Parts: sequence; structure tokens; C-alpha cells
Amino acid sequence: MSKAVLVVGGAFGDEGKGKVISYLALKDKVDLAVRGGVGPNAGHTVVYLGKTYKVRLIPSAFTNPQTRLLIGSGVLVNPQLLLEEVELTGVKGRIGVDYQTGVIEEEHIQRDRRGHLKEKIGTTGTGTGPANADRVLRKGRVAREVPSLQEFLTDVAAEVNSALDASKRVLVEGTQGTFLSLYHGTYPYVTSKDTTASAACADVGIGPLKVGEVIVVLKAYLTRVGEGPLEGELPAEEVVKLGWGEFGTVTGRLRRAAPFNFKLARRACLLNSATQIALTKLDVLFKDDAGAKSFQDLSADAKKFIWRIEAETGVKVTLIGTGPTVDDIVDRRCEA
Ligand code: GTP
Ligand code: IMP
Ligand code: MG
Repeated sequence: MSKAVLVVGGAFGDEGKGKVISYLALKDKVDLAVRGGVGPNAGHTVVYLGKTYKVRLIPSAFTNPQTRLLIGSGVLVNPQLLLEEVELTGVKGRIGVDYQTGVIEEEHIQRDRRGHLKEKIGTTGTGTGPANADRVLRKGRVAREVPSLQEFLTDVAAEVNSALDASKRVLVEGTQGTFLSLYHGTYPYVTSKDTTASAACADVGIGPLKVGEVIVVLKAYLTRVGEGPLEGELPAEEVVKLGWGEFGTVTGRLRRAAPFNFKLARRACLLNSATQIALTKLDVLFKDDAGAKSFQDLSADAKKFIWRIEAETGVKVTLIGTGPTVDDIVDRRCEA
């Protein structure tokens, strides 16, 4: 029997999970990748073979053509968007959606784009909050009722558990970030459900004992879209000047930004039982480290930063992003 590797965001989303997951899918020859998380409010960027993909529903592990791709029952899908992404990524024939995955309808999107959700929370406007609200009220629609989803339907929990029983390599993809969690985040400025590692397990139908590694993804600085507290937030002009200016994958909004926060990193590790940290965008903080492939080659300042993260969290930084493409990464998992 094998155990799953689970990847989860350690901040406010957009930590670069898409890049880390697509790297792992290829490097570790993942047999099955299953997406947990909220739904198409996520936007993962995958830069692979000269092409930039922005995926909101398809697991970011799509880069490996051998990987079976699944969407868990805890997730919400927008059927039209899913079909578009299946086309874009060419994954037809290897993607499955659970019978009971929730469905976003046009009315949910409309409700998400007005009043309190738009004005106070600053949601992504993708309908996920209203769809989850209807789901809790037990009046939401599920995938098995949607004609266009019939060809994808499967029992995701059964597939994932059988793959583990057969010692296959399984990757569980979380979305959003720990501090956007409905339970552990900066309520009420959060998303519509829990987003920690435990929630990702429930989303895809595995128990906690089936997880071998929890990789918490952190970015070398913090970003946040929408409303809510962000300690140490910098003025927009400074963010752009530092080269930290990012635009939301889903909303196109300029992401707010602040320096790396060690206290939040420690809490993210605690809430998720992190066994490893993936640190992205080191090249943005330390320009000399762009494209580095080994820890030895990193600048002294970069090494010092990484050692401090390890000292403050008690968790090893095993993967380090040094550029936007899938293979711009330092992989320390084999180091003694
Ligand atoms: P959510 O599910 O929406 O939280 O998304 P995400 O965690 O997959 O991150 P998203 O793709 O929204 O944002 C991360 C951005 O950083 C993307 O533009 C990536 O291409 C980019 N990126 C990721 N890792 C690195 C890195 O190590 N260096 C550089 N320069 N860019 C990176
Ligand atoms: P919702 O998830 O669309 O309801 O939005 C609630 C809050 O979570 C808003 O602040 C959004 O900007 C934020 N949010 C939701 N999903 C993501 C994500 O994938 N990346 C970054 N922020 C997100
Ligand atoms: Mg994103």
C-alpha cells in the first residue's frame, strides 16, 4: 500500500501550487492526481513546453500524459468551464468527476456578483460561495444530474483508495490557501469552506492515515486578492517597484502584497501537519537566483532566508521555485 502526497496552500492562495504540482506530476511519475478545494475560484498557472495554461478545474498534474486526473466530490464544478478546460489541455479520456461533485449554476454566479459578497468580501464572482450555501441547504445540484458531465462520471473515493491499495503514486491537490479557510482563516474575509489539508482529504474521500506527505506551498512574499487583513501590506506602487506585482488569474485584479510573514508560515505548517515546504518565487526576491537548479548554487542571502524559514517552522524547505516554468526548481528531497 502507498500513501498520498498532499499539496496545499500555506497563505492566501496563489502561492504557486500549480507550478509545484505540475513539477511533481512529471518528476515523481504520478499515476493519479485528484483535485480537492473549493472550485473554479482557483486559478493555477502552469508554464510548460513554452505554453502558459491557466487552469481553474483541471488538476495541475495534467502535464504528465500518463496521470489519471480526478475531481473530488467536495469540489464544485462549472460544467461549461470544465468542458472548455478539457479541450484546452487535451485530457479527454483520462479525467473523471465524482458523481456527487457540486455544480455551479448561472444563478449562483449572479448572486456572487452583487451585494455583500461583491462589496464586502470581494469574492472572485465565480459562484462558489452561493453554490456551497445551496449545497449546505441541501438544494444544490450535483454532477450526476448534468447531461454534459455523464461521460466523466466516476466514484472518485473508490478510485483513489484502490490506487493507494495497489501502491500507485497518488497526489492530492488542494486549492486556495490556509488563511482563506472558512474555519482557520481571516473570517469573514475567507472562502466558502475549509481549505486545509484535512479538508482536501475529505474533498477526495481519503482518511488522514492515507496521507504520507503534506507539502505546504509558500511564496517568498505574501499576496492577497479581495478584502481582509494583510499584515505589513505595502502600497501598490512599491509592490510594482519591487517586482511583486501580480494580477489575479481569475479576476485580473492587482494582488495586494506584503513581505514574507514567519508567524503565518509557522501557523500554516501547524494547521496542515506540514512535512515539507515548497517555497516559490525565490527568484523574484533574489534576482541572482533565477533559474538555479541546486541549493549550492543559491546566493548566500537566499540560503539564509531558507534556513530561517526552516528554523522558525521546524519544517524542511524541500522544493524551491526559481522561475515560472515547471522545471525552474531546486529539489532537495534527495539530500541527506
Ligand atoms: P490558486 O489555486 O489560485 O491559489 O493558484 P496557485 O497557487 O496555483 O498560483 P497562481 O498560478 O495563481 O499564481 C502564482 C504565480 O506565480 C503564477 O503566475 C506562476 O506562474 C508564478 N510562479 C510560480 N512559481 C514561481 C517561481 O518560482 N518563480 C516565478 N518567477 N514565478 C512563479
Ligand atoms: P470566493 O472564494 O470567490 O468566495 O472569494 C472569497 C475570498 O477568497 C476573496 O478574497 C477571494 O479573492 C479569495 N480567493 C478565493 N479563491 C482564491 C484563489 O484561488 N486565490 C486567491 N484568492 C482566492
Ligand atoms: Mg491562483
